[in-house]
Amino acid sequence: MAIRIIRQEGDEILKKKSREVDVIDEKIQVLIDDMIETMHKYNGVGLAAVQVGILKRVIVIDIYDDNGPIVLINPVITKTKGEQEVDEGCLSFPNKFAKVIRPKEVTAEYLDRNGKSKKIKAKDLLAQAICHEVDHLNGEVFVDKIIPGTLEYIEPENNK
Ligand code: NI
Repeated sequence: MAIRIIRQEGDEILKKKSREVDVIDEKIQVLIDDMIETMHKYNGVGLAAVQVGILKRVIVIDIYDDNGPIVLINPVITKTKGEQEVDEGCLSFPNKFAKVIRPKEVTAEYLDRNGKSKKIKAKDLLAQAICHEVDHLNGEVFVDKIIPGTLEYIEPENNK
């Protein structure tokens, strides 16, 4: 496994739409492992493949509960319910935080890393993370949908 370079604000690739994964091959498995390692290294809750420069519809999420990291390939949000106002950040915008409105609950269908069709019902932070990462696959980033006046810049701590 390897830590991959995270594409940062201003990188045009972040605005591009990712393509569906047709075949979950060894290359995709390596990508997934690297994405999980990279997300953990930077204490992220989620990471989309586009953020490491790969335009494929693959996301990883870890809300640091008992379930461990979740891998979603070709995810589609099929249902949303309610709203929540949440604080949000992104590993591609390391110093920016803002409030956004996300659905309170989402249902998503996806393939797991073994190619098996799955459905997940998520709420709260997990719902927020799924929405944020699926946005990345569509070339959308959270700073474009923040509640006006809530953007904060936080100076980075000493590099770890
Ligand atoms: Ni992000």
